[in-house]
Amino acid sequence: MPIILEASSISKSFRGLMAISDVSVRLEEGQITGLIGPNGAGKTTLFNIITGGIAPDRGTVTFLGKELGKLTPDRICRLGISRTYQLVRPFLSLPVYRNVLIGVYFGRDGYISSAKAEREVDELLEFVGLRDKRAARASELNTVERKHLEIARALATLPRLLLLDEVVAGLNPSETSAVMESIREIRRRGVTIFLIEHVMKVVMGLSDHLLVLHHGELIAEGKPEKVATSPAVVEAYLGHRRPAGAYHAEG
Ligand SMILES: Nc1ncnc2c1ncn2[C@@H]1O[C@H](COP(=O)(O)OP(=O)(O)OP(=O)(O)O)[C@@H](O)[C@H]1O
Ligand SMILES: [Mg+2]
Repeated sequence: MPIILEASSISKSFRGLMAISDVSVRLEEGQITGLIGPNGAGKTTLFNIITGGIAPDRGTVTFLGKELGKLTPDRICRLGISRTYQLVRPFLSLPVYRNVLIGVYFGRDGYISSAKAEREVDELLEFVGLRDKRAARASELNTVERKHLEIARALATLPRLLLLDEVVAGLNPSETSAVMESIREIRRRGVTIFLIEHVMKVVMGLSDHLLVLHHGELIAEGKPEKVATSPAVVEAYLGHRRPAGAYHAEG
């Protein structure tokens, strides 16, 4: 499969703290790539760099053969990269359908008639199960509904690549399964997916390829089953193993 996005030697520090350190990532078109790592590993920062919200100190991002350079987030969105946020950000005072309509009108290039735009919004709301809530204000939605709205809003821009940042966080098991099925369906429709997730069942169940960040460095990548059990990854999650006999009561 061709490479849809390549991030090369990306580094970014915040006030001396290396959030991302010389990270290179290649996403294959049509695949679901998972990105895991402990809190503060730099996962969201990498998404922010890819989508143009944060400029890297070093490194380049190339999407569909075009270097993104200093393009603004709206330009990058129109080129075909869309994302959801870890903390969802709907326009709370607007009705649900208008939140999605904004994506249709402003997140892509070209003219669209209002009739077609409305039709697309209804299809998207149907897809995420929010058709009945179309006229409700976004502020009236519960957590799971807001997550679905966030997905519909991201899809409204017609992405070729969709970045999902902890989209199942806060959901119960059956809600999580429903979102996983939606993600599979989005991929079946031809969208490449890059997914940050802490819930291992979700990452392992969805990813074709898995990347692991730790302290801003890419410490492992490859087939999910292999990566998740590799010693470096286990250590990153569980901390340094003490040598045998080193355990003693604190105190
Ligand atoms: N805009 C910013 N200004 C200053 N520091 C930042 C900024 N964004 C991120 N950081 C810091 O960079 C590091 C990486 O943060 P990031 O949000 O990318 O981690 P993460 O892997 O997404 O973590 P989590 O799993 O908790 O969401 C953290 O130490 C964070 O405090
Ligand atoms: Mg994050």
